[in-house]
Amino acid sequence: MEKLMISGGRPLQGMVSISGAKNSAIALIPAAILAESEVILDNLPLLSDVAVYAEILEELGAKVAWEGSQMRIDPSAIKSIPMPNGPVKKLRASYYMMGAMLGRFKEAVVGLPGGCNFEPRPIDQHIKGFEALGATVTNEHGSIHLHAKELRGTKIYLDVSSVGATINIMLAAARAKGATIIENAAKEPEIIDVATLLNSMGAVIKGAGTETIRIEGVSELHGCRHSIIPDRIQAGTYMIAAAATRGDVLIDNIIPKHLEAITAKMQEMGVVIEEFDESIRVKGTPSYEHVDVKALIYPGFATDLQSPMTSLLTQARGVSVLSDFVYSNRFKHVPELVRMGAKIRVEGRSAIIEGGNLNAAKVKAADLRAGAALVIAGLTVEDGVTEVTGVEYIDRGYDHLVSNLRMLGADVWRQSE
Ligand code: EPU
Repeated sequence: MEKLMISGGRPLQGMVSISGAKNSAIALIPAAILAESEVILDNLPLLSDVAVYAEILEELGAKVAWEGSQMRIDPSAIKSIPMPNGPVKKLRASYYMMGAMLGRFKEAVVGLPGGCNFEPRPIDQHIKGFEALGATVTNEHGSIHLHAKELRGTKIYLDVSSVGATINIMLAAARAKGATIIENAAKEPEIIDVATLLNSMGAVIKGAGTETIRIEGVSELHGCRHSIIPDRIQAGTYMIAAAATRGDVLIDNIIPKHLEAITAKMQEMGVVIEEFDESIRVKGTPSYEHVDVKALIYPGFATDLQSPMTSLLTQARGVSVLSDFVYSNRFKHVPELVRMGAKIRVEGRSAIIEGGNLNAAKVKAADLRAGAALVIAGLTVEDGVTEVTGVEYIDRGYDHLVSNLRMLGADVWRQSE
C-alpha cells in the first residue's frame, strides 16, 4: 500500500493535458462486446478501473490489447458465462456488464457492484429498464441473474434520471427488437459518448444528451474506432487545485462547454478564468468570496466535483453552503478536512464551510473524490507534510495525478505505508 505525501504552499503553474473520461471509458469498454468484430478505443485513461475491465473481458474470451491510451477489443470469441466475481466486486460500473451481456446474449450473471461506497447506491432503475425490455431479473446469492427469450423495445420512464440506468438501457436495447424510448433520461456528456460509439457500431440512437432517447433496435453491430471524450471531472479538479493554490494553470485537451457550471461558480468567487476552444486557463487571486453551490444532475454543478470544491471553499472569505442534490450523504471528506483545521459542519445534505487556513495532518481518502479533495487541501498547506492514505481510491479516477502535479510544480510523492 502506498500513501501520498504533499508538501504544500506552492502555486501550481504550467499546463496539464487531460486524459479521456473515466465514466465514459468504463461504459464504452463493455459496450464494445455488443459488436461482432474489433472495436478500437482511443484516448483511454490509464486507470485501475480500466485495467479491471480489461481483465473481465479477457476472462470472458475477448481479445484485449491495451497499449498506452489505445485499447483494441475483439469480442468475436466472447462467451456467455457468469462474470468473474473477484474483478466485478472491485468495480461500481460492473453493472454495465448486465446491459451489455443481456444485449449480446439475452442472459447475464453479474455479481453486485462494488466501487466507491459513499452512500447506498441503488440500481432499481437499471432493473426496471431490463424488465421493461422483457428480461427476468433475480438476485441469487449476491449475483444478479438476467434472462430474456427476446428483448423487445418499449417506452421506459426513469423515476430518477440516472446516468448508469440510461446507459445500461441503451446497451440492452441497441440489439432489441423494435424501438425503445427512454424518458427522463440522464443528459451527461458520457451518455452522448456511449451513444456515439454505439451508432458508429451500427446502432440507431437519437436524442442522447436530451431527456428523451430513442433507440431503434438492430440485429447486429460491427467494430469501429472511437475516441473517448475528455474527463470533465479531472479537468474540474485541476481547475480547483489551480485556484486553491493561487496558481496559474492551462488545462488542455478539454471541452470547455462541459465545465460551464464549475467555471461560472469559480468566477463568482473571484477566480480569473479564460476559455479557449479546447482549453481553460485558471488564474488564482489573493482572496476569494464565499459562494453557495448546489450539486445537481448535468448541466448543473457535478456532484463529482462537490468534494474538491469543499476544499477550495475553505480558502474563501466568509461562510459558503455547499449542498448535494444527487447524493445527499457524500461528505466523507469533511471529517478529514476538519482534522486539517477546516471549519465545516454537515447539516442534512449541506456542508457549511467557514473560510480559514488549513494545517498538515494524516488523513484518509474514503472514496475517489474525497481523495481528490484531500490532495487539494494538502496543496494549500504552507507548513508541514500532509499524508493521504487510501490512494487506491484516487487511482480509480486520476490518470498520472502525481506526475501531473509535479509537472505543475507541486511537491508531491508516493511513499510506502
Ligand atoms: N439512483 C436510484 N436508482 C437507480 C440509479 C440511481 O435511485 O437505479 C439514484 C442514485 O442513488 C443517485 C442518483 O440516482 O441519487 C444518480 O445516480 P446515477 O445512477 O446517475 O449515478 P451512477 O450512474 O451510479 C455515475 C458516475 C458517478 C457520478 C454519478 C452522478 C459512473 C460509473 N459513475 O454514477 O461517478 O457521481 O453518475 O453523476 O459513471 C465518480 O466518478 O466519482 C462517481 C461516483
